[in-house]
Amino acid sequence: MSTRKIIIDTDPGQDDALAILLALGSPELEVLGISCVAGNVPLHYTTRNALLVAELARRSDVPVFAGCDRPMVRDLVTAEEVHGKTGLDGPDWDEPTSSLAPGHAVDWLIETLMAADDGEITLCPIGPLTNIGMALVREPRIKPKIAEIVSMGGGYFVGGNITPAAEFNIYVDPHAAHTVYSSGIPLVAMPLDVTHKALMRDEWIQSVRDLGGDLGNKTADMLSFYERYDLERYGDFGGPLHDPATIAWLLKPELYGGKDVYVQIETHSEVTMGMTVVDYWHKLGQAPNCRWIHEVDADGFFALLSERLANLA
Ligand code: BDR
Ligand code: CA
Repeated sequence: MSTRKIIIDTDPGQDDALAILLALGSPELEVLGISCVAGNVPLHYTTRNALLVAELARRSDVPVFAGCDRPMVRDLVTAEEVHGKTGLDGPDWDEPTSSLAPGHAVDWLIETLMAADDGEITLCPIGPLTNIGMALVREPRIKPKIAEIVSMGGGYFVGGNITPAAEFNIYVDPHAAHTVYSSGIPLVAMPLDVTHKALMRDEWIQSVRDLGGDLGNKTADMLSFYERYDLERYGDFGGPLHDPATIAWLLKPELYGGKDVYVQIETHSEVTMGMTVVDYWHKLGQAPNCRWIHEVDADGFFALLSERLANLA
């Protein structure tokens, strides 16, 4: 089987953890490394959490790098109210036994991409886009090396989740998001519009627990903790599991539907800072810079997750 080479850029986060597990449980994907960024929680926690998740999957061979500890321009905003103090609250974790790979994530991204063939590597950013934006600013020659960027972020039809206008990942570093969205690199966005159409049910979380062992129990504990915030906010049907949508799209794009559109990132107005302004009806006449995903076969998505988590259990 020919595998697709990916890099996951992340701020774990329980839903980031599920994205990493989905990728590591999928033989179609070769995870070259995990680059961490400050977002849901500060960088010292996101790096620790990425190491813990790689250990949970028994894949400590995948290198984990520490990247930027703050956004390009603005002050860091975090989301402990969703993810808990450590970002990975829920299970009882021991501290990781593995260590971070040496060097800065942005340097590693640039070195790895510059050594690759054109279109060889796919980037999957599931946190604020700081590391990717910084890499593009420092070394624009990485652009042709990137097959596409499949990112979780933004919202159009359902609005925002950190402000009425903005989704968390874009809001935290709108300047990095602008750099990525205006780069000309093929881009797929998995916004709140699609993640809010695939809600976790208790029975599904129980089926994850039933996988047993550390993988089943810790993953279910993460999901139960993570879901409590969304249940309170959105009602008791189930919470959206955002970040794994990126990996699921790579594995089974037939689960998803969307449209090629032109997207701009708001970087000026405080009221709408970080808003993804989607020209859904092609009002501006600009060439699309993004495939905007807003439909999903939710049952297919959760079945895929179950299948790939079972590969790791
Ligand atoms: C995004 O924000 C974070 O809290 C999640 O990990 C996800 O990447 C959802 O808006
Ligand atoms: Ca995330």
